[in-house]
Amino acid sequence: MIRVGLIGAGTMGRVHAAAYRQLEAAHLAMICDRVVEKGHQLAGTGVRAVQDYREVLENPNIDLVDVCLPTYLHREVVTAAAAAGKHVFCEKPIALSVEDAQEMMQICQKAGVKLGIGHVVRFFPDYSKAKVLVESGRVGDPKVVRTSRGGSFPRWSQDNWFADYAKSGGPIVDLIIHDIDWLLWMFGPVKRVFAKSVRKEESKEQLLDHALVTLRFENGIIAHLEGSWAQPEGTPFATSFEIAGTKGLYQYSKKRSTPLLVRTAKGENQAQSVPESPLALDPYTAQLEAFLEAIMEDSEVPVSGLEAARALEVALAARRSADTGEVVHLGGDHNA
Ligand SMILES: NC(=O)c1ccc[n+]([C@@H]2O[C@H](COP(=O)([O-])OP(=O)(O)OC[C@H]3O[C@@H](n4cnc5c(N)ncnc54)[C@H](O)[C@@H]3O)[C@@H](O)[C@H]2O)c1
Repeated sequence: MIRVGLIGAGTMGRVHAAAYRQLEAAHLAMICDRVVEKGHQLAGTGVRAVQDYREVLENPNIDLVDVCLPTYLHREVVTAAAAAGKHVFCEKPIALSVEDAQEMMQICQKAGVKLGIGHVVRFFPDYSKAKVLVESGRVGDPKVVRTSRGGSFPRWSQDNWFADYAKSGGPIVDLIIHDIDWLLWMFGPVKRVFAKSVRKEESKEQLLDHALVTLRFENGIIAHLEGSWAQPEGTPFATSFEIAGTKGLYQYSKKRSTPLLVRTAKGENQAQSVPESPLALDPYTAQLEAFLEAIMEDSEVPVSGLEAARALEVALAARRSADTGEVVHLGGDHNA
């Protein structure tokens, strides 16, 4: 049984708390939020609610600290938790700079604790199934990819921290990074990045931002990623992707009732069952279950700090490109 201290009782804290309550391997023992009522409300009975995260770290009965704090606090709290000898699960993005991410990884490694990052898209069945289909070669060699993700501006956050790019990274670093991680997982390293973003401050509380990112992978695949915080308020959050290969196409749209389709030159036009319905575990619970297993079996975590740092590096390059209008090259031979 892994005893969990959850820090941050906001949107993702509520999701993680519900997940731990379903998992037999976990015991949710403490919840921390600097807004006392939020912590108490989520804790309910039997879970201790505190206001200062250091109380969680000082408790010798806590094995795992789950960080669901605004992104600008990830580095501080993850490094303090690791230094206190706790395993750490941290929401994505890992941090706001690659240097911070590296420091987090180093301190976890030195302390001998596991660090897992919440790149949950890998646990969404249509996305994980797409990887299996790509590897099966059914539509040939993937060449061109398109993803989209977005909805209205996330107004739910405490103190509206999403609107401050120094705290959230904006939609490229906060939102599009989900697809970046998934694509890196399937296709390997990115060679160069180009991005455009349209930003408008409607009011202090509401920022509109729509971004387009083009990635050129080292293996030649081109991906075009769209991310939006600019849809009218109340627009349902939606995602889609399309992977075009030499023999056909995978298409997915959250808006369709049969979201994942395979279309090939041979005339196939098949819906993929993904997987059993209803799902045994929702993706957020499945990712935490996989992390708990990695702790118990002392095995590889599902999404490591290093993988999350790589996704962050690409996202930051895209933001730099959107800011400067220039192509940004990453590693390797920059002239190819
Ligand atoms: N995986 C996903 O699909 C997904 C979705 C949304 C957000 N996120 C990520 O999850 C993280 C949290 O986002 P959110 O939407 O839950 O934010 P939120 O604003 O809803 O919640 C953050 C909570 O942290 C608390 N908090 C702030 N500073 C604190 C401190 N010093 N000590 C204790 N509590 C403190 C706030 O009071 C608030 O309750 C972010 O990194 C975000 O990018 C991930």
